[in-house]
Amino acid sequence: MKVLVTGGAGFIGSNFVHRTLATRPDAEVTVLDALTYAGSTTSLDGVLERIRFVEGDVADAEVVDPLVAGSDVVVHFAAESHNDNSLADPSPFIRTNLVGTFTLLEAARKHDVRYHHVSTDEVYGDLELDDPKKFTEDTPYTPSSPYSASKAGSDHLVRAWVRSFGLRATLSNCSNNYGPRQHVEKFIPRQVTNVLDGVRPKLYGDGLNVRDWIHVDDHNDAVWTVVERGRAGETYLIGANGEMNNRDVIALILELMGQEPDAYDHVTDRAGHDRRYAIEAGKLRQELGWTPRYETFRDGLAATIDWYREHEEWWRPAKETTEAKYARTQQVLAR
Ligand code: NAD
Ligand code: TYD
Repeated sequence: MKVLVTGGAGFIGSNFVHRTLATRPDAEVTVLDALTYAGSTTSLDGVLERIRFVEGDVADAEVVDPLVAGSDVVVHFAAESHNDNSLADPSPFIRTNLVGTFTLLEAARKHDVRYHHVSTDEVYGDLELDDPKKFTEDTPYTPSSPYSASKAGSDHLVRAWVRSFGLRATLSNCSNNYGPRQHVEKFIPRQVTNVLDGVRPKLYGDGLNVRDWIHVDDHNDAVWTVVERGRAGETYLIGANGEMNNRDVIALILELMGQEPDAYDHVTDRAGHDRRYAIEAGKLRQELGWTPRYETFRDGLAATIDWYREHEEWWRPAKETTEAKYARTQQVLAR
């Protein structure tokens, strides 16, 4: 199978490429990635010689069209992906997430190519902490941030191309991922690399915000499950019952790294900060038979911490600029 992976030099996309080559030796992988601040070919170390790598923009139709034409399936990961950045400057989110998706959809329609759209549970807005409900495929879209609104818009485009043009497309909306090769701007890698640098972790607001953590390999196995067995036009939610609040995640990181569990700082909260995400993944489990392989968040987190300890050369180049950016907008409020 010829697979075009957009965003394959980013966190989830690069892990998808590694996992694809490990589990599907016959797959012919092409990566299309613009190598923004969030992408690096070092994330493809060990597999670059087995794939075709194209540096280019998903919103550039001249680049996209021939690549899609030569593929059996497009798996679209490329995006601007960080909420804090979308608050500072939403414009690249509109271009990449909306115009980029539109450009791929047009090429997939023209060449009748199977398309899978990777999206987020953040399109559903947030839940109250005490709400017994979780997100399902029927939850109405109420995105909060420029990032989640741009992803919501891209999901709507995919559905419209299915209905109006009969595009053979599926969608998946996943909860928060963790694992190797995640940019140090994101919550878990930021705190782990802070501790490795002797700097205190930084918690936004009261830290009671809940995220539903899933290991990136479990997400990617689910994406393959949907690509291979999902019904055209359908959406599948991906999650692994990993709800935990940010305060507890930081305490667990500190414990696993041999520090006192309260050795962190409270910093300025994120504007419009979503309170809680939680996924009901029954459709994916029952209809397609997917189950996660990582049994506990603690074990997956410990392995992820080891990865960052052993791969300083991977994360070090981005650390200083990322922290300088945060320092301009975030103040330490309390220790
Ligand atoms: P990431 O920021 O780590 O990687 C994004 C990649 O896309 C980078 O390699 C970047 O260079 C590339 N890219 C950006 N703009 C591009 C453009 N215009 N053209 C081509 N390439 C471009 O993101 P991620 O965390 O790996 O997320 C991947 C996808 O998964 C996104 O669509 C995101 O919305 C979705 N998702 C992420 C999570 C999560 O927890 N990180 C959860 C659910 C869904
Ligand atoms: P993040 O990794 O940015 O993912 P998302 O915004 O997609 O959920 O943040 C995860 C949670 O961690 C979110 O509630 C914001 C919080 N957070 C902190 O408390 N401190 C930090 O330094 C960062 C980056 C995030």
